[in-house]
Formats: sequence, structure tokens, C-alpha cells
Amino acid sequence: MSPLPVENAIKVLLIEDDEEDFILIHHLLTGIKSSRYETTWAQEYEEALDELMHGCYDVCLLDYRLGPRNGLDVLHRVQDCYYERPPIIVLTGQGDYEVDLEAMKSGAADFLVKDRITDTMLERSIRYAIDRKKSEDALRESEKQLDYLSAQLLVVQENERRKVAAELHDNLGQVLTAIKYNIEGVMNRVPPGASFAGDLEAVIPLMQGAVDSVRRIYTQLRPSVLDDLGIKAAISWYSREFESANEQIVVAKELDLNEEQVPDSLKLVIFRIVQEAMDNISAHSCASRADVSLSVDDGGLRLRIADDGTGFDVTAKMSQTSSSSGLGLRSIKRRAELSGGAIRIVSKPGSGTDIIVNWPLGLGNATAPKNQGGTP
Ligand SMILES: Nc1ncnc2c1ncn2[C@@H]1O[C@H](COP(=O)(O)OP(=O)(O)OP(=O)(O)O)[C@@H](O)[C@H]1O
Ligand SMILES: [Mg+2]
Repeated sequence: MSPLPVENAIKVLLIEDDEEDFILIHHLLTGIKSSRYETTWAQEYEEALDELMHGCYDVCLLDYRLGPRNGLDVLHRVQDCYYERPPIIVLTGQGDYEVDLEAMKSGAADFLVKDRITDTMLERSIRYAIDRKKSEDALRESEKQLDYLSAQLLVVQENERRKVAAELHDNLGQVLTAIKYNIEGVMNRVPPGASFAGDLEAVIPLMQGAVDSVRRIYTQLRPSVLDDLGIKAAISWYSREFESANEQIVVAKELDLNEEQVPDSLKLVIFRIVQEAMDNISAHSCASRADVSLSVDDGGLRLRIADDGTGFDVTAKMSQTSSSSGLGLRSIKRRAELSGGAIRIVSKPGSGTDIIVNWPLGLGNATAPKNQGGTP
């Protein structure tokens, strides 16, 4: 039953199968002087669901008893659509603590006992429910903005890295190599016994060191092996680099999958997560062994990076917000979540660290995660 529109009125959906109770609640609502209410009455379960999901209401008053169903059935059906539906206040004939708890767990905004409700109580409960929903909607909106900004930040970061890597490779790297060849050429023409021959010779290893450093920096920024040969080759290359820079740590890798099983859009994400996690193993873990594995099974694509080092308190580290706290773990988490993955970081002091990310595959869901800075 649709009411006549009332200007600036709060739109109430009243789900109630008993006409006498409908009259009682309607009477209470019309008795409230501080606000005006426009009440729509839904009597049956299906009609109630339809109005809840497709109607445009500020609040819903839901009777616990609803013919053969009850209010909890309605709540359960619409529980996953929390943000699209109005806040729901459950009304019941008598106080039932268990039902109250269950209703709250299922997303009810409040729980009122019908024969004890006064107009003041009803007005306040409706006002609080609407205000809380507004704050939650605003929070959700800023979370969405934050997600968008972090995704954009990752894209910008990757583009910058790519640009700097190209500059280093095409300019500085080439120039240093040319200087080194020129010096070698000059050395070949130095007359035997010339006093400056030794000085010139000493420059060669320095130049070679500079060439190697530049190469290392641009491959870290954007490894061409990832673009040219794919994620398996990139992880293998990175593991070798890691072992030669960290002689005390043995890296065991397991890459039991075909390159084609990894969606292109995830390859860079996976590589950056491995890089960040391995940087942490090198910098903080004192480990003797690191495990890197990438595999596919019924659960989807699974990446695991683990070490047998010192471990740490994950909750404490992840909740630090000072400017001195690191960004690595947060960036791992963000990259995983923005690309549609579920991440678990398991660690505690004294028992190593395990980072596991799962991406669902199939049905096209993980093949189109949000872009994180260019598909290789
Ligand atoms: N594998 C690990 N073993 C032991 N401690 C770790 C490990 N990974 C992270 N930590 C701890 O968690 C902290 C946070 O790591 P995170 O990567 O976020 O920051 P960071 O490495 O300190 O700095 P950044 O990564 O920004 O250069 C580290 O400082 C370290 O104390
Ligand atoms: Mg780090």
C-alpha cells in the first residue's frame, strides 16, 4: 500500500503481516511531532523483499513474525546488500535476547519490542539508524576513493619506474659503456712505460663497477626479463640475483605451472610482491632459507613467499602509522587486494614469515583485475 507523498517526509517501509499492528505503528509514527513520515505497508515476504531491494526508503521497520517466515529470513536474504538497502529496525511481539542478538548479527540497525514502544523511542531509533547509515555510506565512499587513489598511485609509480629505467638504460648506461671503451682504446695506444698507464688502468674497474650498478638499478626498476620471457623466468632471475647478494640465504623455488596459466595483468603484481617480500627477507629476517612458490589448483593461482627467519608481530607492524614505519608490507597487501587477491601474512617473533596470496581464476574473474601499472 503506497501513501500519498508528504514533502520532506522520512520514507518508511513497514513490513507487517498483522493489520492491527500496522495501525498501531502507523499511529505511533503519525504521533511524532518532530518529523514527518511517509509509510508504505508491505504485508508479504516476497513483496517485502522486492520493496526492500528496489524501493527507495530511508528506513525499514520489520516485524519479526511474517506469516510462515520471520524477520530474520528477510534479514538473511538482504544481508549481502547492506549498502543498497535502507537500515532495518526489527520489531517483535516480546523481548527475546537470542533473536535480538541474531538480528544484530544479520545486520539489523535496532530491535524494538512492539508493546513497549513509545513514539519518542521509535523516533530516536529511526533517527539513529538513518544517521548511522549515512556515516557508514560516507565511510564506504571514502574507502572507495582511497582504493581508487592507491590504484592510481601504483600505476603512476610503475610508469615512473619504467621511464627512469629507460633513461638509465638508453642514456647513462650507454654513455658509461662508451667512456669505458674509449679509455680501453686509449690504453691500447699508450706508449710502453708511460707514467700515467697505471692511473688509466685503475679507471677501468671503476667504470665497469659504474656500468654494473646502473644495469642493476634499471633491471630492478623494470626487469626486461619479465616483459620478454614472463613471470616464471622473472622469478627465477630474481631468485638468482637474491642468492648472489645474500650468500647466507638459500632460495628454494617451485614454479609448477605454465606461463599461460598466469593472467598477463597479474604478472607485474606478482613480481612486485615477490620483490618486496624478498627485500624484507634480506633486510630483516636473518633467515637461512627462503621459499618462493607459484602454483595453480582448484582454488586458483597461489603465490607463497616464506622464510625461516626471526618473524615479527604482524598486527603491530601493520598498524604502525608513523612516517618512519615502512611501506613494503602495506604495498604488498594493497597490490594483492586491488588485483582481486586474498592475502594472508602469517608471522610471529621467532617463527619465520609466510606470505600467501590467492587469486581466484576461471570465469574470467581474475583475468581482469584492476590495472596496476601496465601489463608486460
Ligand atoms: N620477512 C620478515 N622477517 C622479519 N621481519 C620482517 C619481515 N618482513 C617484514 N618484517 C618487519 O616488518 C616491518 C615492516 O616491513 P615493511 O616492508 O612494511 O617496511 P620496511 O621493510 O621497514 O621498509 P620499506 O619496505 O618501506 O623499505 C619491518 O621493518 C620488519 O620489522
Ligand atoms: Mg620492506
